[in-house]
Amino acid sequence: MSDIREEINRRRTFAIISHPDAGKTTLTEKFLLYGGAINLAGSVKGKATARHAVSDWMEIEKQRGISVTSSVLQFEYDGYCINILDTPGHQDFSEDTYRTLMAADSAVMVIDGGKGVEAQTRKLFKVCVMRRIPIFTFINKMDRDANDTFDLLDEIEKELGIATCPVNWPIGSGKSFKGVYDREKKCVITYSDTEKGTREGESTQIPLSELDRLTGFVGEDLREKLLEEIELLDGASVEFDLEKVRAGVLTPVFFGSALTNFGVEDFLQHFLQMTTAPLPRRADSGTIDPVESGFSAFVFKIQANMNKAHRDRVAFMRICSGRFDADMEVRHVQGDRIMRLSQPQQIMANDRKILTEAYAGDIIGVFDPGVFSIGDTLCLPREQFRYEGIPTFAPEHFARVRQLDTMKRKQFVKGISQIAQEGAIQIFQELNTGMEEIIVGVVGVLQFDVLKFRLENEYNVEIRLEPLPYEHIRWIENHEEIQIDKLVGTSDMKKVMDLKGNPLLLFVNAWSVGMVLDRNKGLKLSEFGRN
Ligand code: G4P
Repeated sequence: MSDIREEINRRRTFAIISHPDAGKTTLTEKFLLYGGAINLAGSVKGKATARHAVSDWMEIEKQRGISVTSSVLQFEYDGYCINILDTPGHQDFSEDTYRTLMAADSAVMVIDGGKGVEAQTRKLFKVCVMRRIPIFTFINKMDRDANDTFDLLDEIEKELGIATCPVNWPIGSGKSFKGVYDREKKCVITYSDTEKGTREGESTQIPLSELDRLTGFVGEDLREKLLEEIELLDGASVEFDLEKVRAGVLTPVFFGSALTNFGVEDFLQHFLQMTTAPLPRRADSGTIDPVESGFSAFVFKIQANMNKAHRDRVAFMRICSGRFDADMEVRHVQGDRIMRLSQPQQIMANDRKILTEAYAGDIIGVFDPGVFSIGDTLCLPREQFRYEGIPTFAPEHFARVRQLDTMKRKQFVKGISQIAQEGAIQIFQELNTGMEEIIVGVVGVLQFDVLKFRLENEYNVEIRLEPLPYEHIRWIENHEEIQIDKLVGTSDMKKVMDLKGNPLLLFVNAWSVGMVLDRNKGLKLSEFGRN
């Protein structure tokens, strides 16, 4: 037992969220570098040919040279066992990106200091807030010209609605970047432009009280500015409060430069101390403690066709409690059966290794013969409980699906239903029209291509997708109390239903959403669908 406790308590499982190009990959690389998991920075990046050589994942991934799937990286650092969940960005942003956050215990938000809060960060942030997971902010690229520091913090507070507490404070940016002031140690840590890919560079610590030395390093102007800013900061900013951080209402903010290794290891060390080991999770039977309870896990992602020859799927699960042994029997609660998990593996970037044991906090991928669905619970055979379901996230792109060969209706329905069950797309039908037409909704447009490609390649069905102008979808939270037929809509609103028969509304713009809420008192709309 003490072994299990120790193993679980040293685990830290988190996701890194950012807008593309803010520096998520570079930061991850540096983390791995400090953990000794890689010798040279640069091996995480999936842009180039390296990934193709080892990855046999979807064909489309090879064709486009991008990653459709998100991966998990596990490495050791300073006695901690760290699991980083990668959240796919760019065009491969999808519902999986959101779901990954369901499996994380905290999130690191990387912001480009020259750009501030950007669209994708905003979206991912909403999901973190919904789960109330702690968020740690790393403001990156301070070696380039950055926005005013107070403005950056203001933007985070206003746009994201979370209080900020700077742990350190930058001195200059771009060419005049001199380092950061550590508010706890009350000293300045100087920046030296270190060679890319090496460990943290040689920096010097100068106590704020040694004014002459400080002036020697940063110059008079920046020294004056720093002293002024510190005074302002100490007077105005929220006090650091670990409880608030852990409740997800206060974000500690760090400044640095991932590319030049400045402030990264310091951030990692602070972060590891401030974030938590796996926490208890809520199930229908009550709260499940990660250490006291036996093995349990939930499925947060299903990846199809990792090997085309076998048409197999891999179900990714987050272990929430206890220890997993490869040959143990488990209960698949939703499937109502006892089973052994087949070929449990740990997915490490592009590599997969078969594992024999894993602990709460870890992510494992298991071979799925088609029995698992997103949100399913696994536990010990003697137990019987379900973790809270994973919500359905609002797609932002919609298209009408035209099936080209109507003789193949059966294959089409089978194919599109299976792909929807895996959670890559959502399908809807128009309400009360009696038409069999299907509307497909996706979080990232690449999923349209994935759908078309897979229907053709796996189910031999050709389709045409006709884009629809809708960008917003809302679930009707109180649909039992509302008469859907009597809803007063706007001219651009469309009523649809999902596979389970839940009514939803599609809108072209956010203004119409507000309008419909105004026109229908008592109507409650939600951006997340409950499963
Ligand atoms: P992402 O995963 O969030 O999309 O970002 P990524 O790490 O790929 O970084 C995007 C670009 O920003 C890369 O340049 C990277 O080198 C650069 N970058 C990351 N961190 C810093 C930083 O602290 N300072 C500066 N100046 N640049 C940074 P690229 O030219 O697009 O790619 P590459 O050719 O360098 O790989």
